[in-house]
Amino acid sequence: MFLQDVCAIVLCAGDGKRMKSRSPKVLCEVLFQPMIGWIEDALRGAGVSELCLVCSDRSDAVQKAVPNAEVVIQYERRGTGHAVMQARAFLEAHRGQDCIVLCGDAPFMSTEVITNSYNHHKDGQYAMTVITAELQKPYGYGRIVRDPITGLVRSIVEQADTDAATAAIREVNSGGYWFSINFLLDALGSFTTNNKQGEYYLTDSVAYAVRKRLPIGGYKANDPDVILGANDRAGLLRLNEIARAKNIAKAMEDGVEFLCTDGIVIANGVEVGADTRILPGTILKSGAKIGGGCVIGPNTVIENSSIGDDTVINASQIFDSVIGCGVRVGPYTYVRPGCNIHDHAKVGDFVELKNSEIGEKTSIAHLSYIGDTSIGARVNMGGGVITCNYDGQNKYRTDIADDCFIGCNTNLVAPVKVERGAYVAAGSTITHDVPEHALSIARARQVDKQGWSDRRQK
Ligand code: UD1
Ligand code: CA
Repeated sequence: MFLQDVCAIVLCAGDGKRMKSRSPKVLCEVLFQPMIGWIEDALRGAGVSELCLVCSDRSDAVQKAVPNAEVVIQYERRGTGHAVMQARAFLEAHRGQDCIVLCGDAPFMSTEVITNSYNHHKDGQYAMTVITAELQKPYGYGRIVRDPITGLVRSIVEQADTDAATAAIREVNSGGYWFSINFLLDALGSFTTNNKQGEYYLTDSVAYAVRKRLPIGGYKANDPDVILGANDRAGLLRLNEIARAKNIAKAMEDGVEFLCTDGIVIANGVEVGADTRILPGTILKSGAKIGGGCVIGPNTVIENSSIGDDTVINASQIFDSVIGCGVRVGPYTYVRPGCNIHDHAKVGDFVELKNSEIGEKTSIAHLSYIGDTSIGARVNMGGGVITCNYDGQNKYRTDIADDCFIGCNTNLVAPVKVERGAYVAAGSTITHDVPEHALSIARARQVDKQGWSDRRQK
């Protein structure tokens, strides 16, 4: 279900001093994705596409990370209520709709909770709905006080303002809420700084609704992790560990095999087929799509690439490429962007490929650099073959047709073609096209000087 007539404000002005990072806190990454990116994905997954980010004055990088969002600046950090006040024009433009307000540093807020809390909000016709969670250790969070009869939210008590009774409440405010925008605009005008922290509290909108006798919903998320945030590097590591374990558990449900999960990191949205075995030290970054029956790792990185069924990738790095079925890659292969390796090819140790097509059953087994090249099917590339694709100014292509044999230590000086079925002798430096079915030898002839070493010793 995609939500209609809704928008979102995400509070991102926290500076995150304790992260000791050059970038704003919301750009700190969990599984290689900035926290704000997680929230954007969850919102867009629910159909919320109108986004307003409240940023500190270092907003450029945040804007770059979420290019389609509107950004407003909160020059002074004067509380969550003050942060939302900076988005007043955005709210005015969306009058009559509902708006979700989220914290930019709580990346596990999910599409499911966003959607379900919205339905709760609309079904109850609430002025606002607080997204809550029940925690074993509620310390530090605002506590949810509910009416014992109606179950509606009556107040949120900030940690600093708790007494013994409210401190014992384990249901806490996630910092995420749905608001009727008309109500929120009115509530913003009522905030004061009369509290222990001297801040404008967004949670004062609860007191305002109570004064106006408007009902306030409370939607409790099943998974308390949705409210988790990070204030420092240790907190960020904790979020990474939680997310990592969840993605590994999900892969196992899909039939993926792990002997040991040490050093294995699977980013969100990565797909892995059943019966694929993932070995330690494997990092599958965003956009990795792995078929079934593969062996991936150990010590492998794959990003934005698709790998067919029954392929083996051993101790290699693969970026922005497509690899077919039954291919063998590695150990120690570097596949740079723009490669397409067809079924049953083999690319072995210390081979670097860039922007190249490798045909079916072709073998590049050892110690090669292949760049800007198309290689046909069933070609054997000997050890040490190098494409010389760059003259210092421009890049040129090399074309090798089907069924060729390129001898060891050949240099192919591009632009150059080797036509179908041709052979190139080992050690050649090929500077012009090799005709079909020819043998090209392009090296100095061997000279044997008889008795030379004896004469030298005398
Ligand atoms: C707030 C809630 C609290 C809730 C908690 C959940 C208030 C008054 N309290 O606590 O009930 O349990 O969140 O985490 O709202 N931010 C700004 N500008 C500011 C202040 C904050 O953008 O001036 C942003 C922060 O970057 C963060 C979010 O708002 O993303 C929450 O701020 P934080 O200081 O962590 O929340 P608390 O006030 O402690
Ligand atoms: Ca605070």
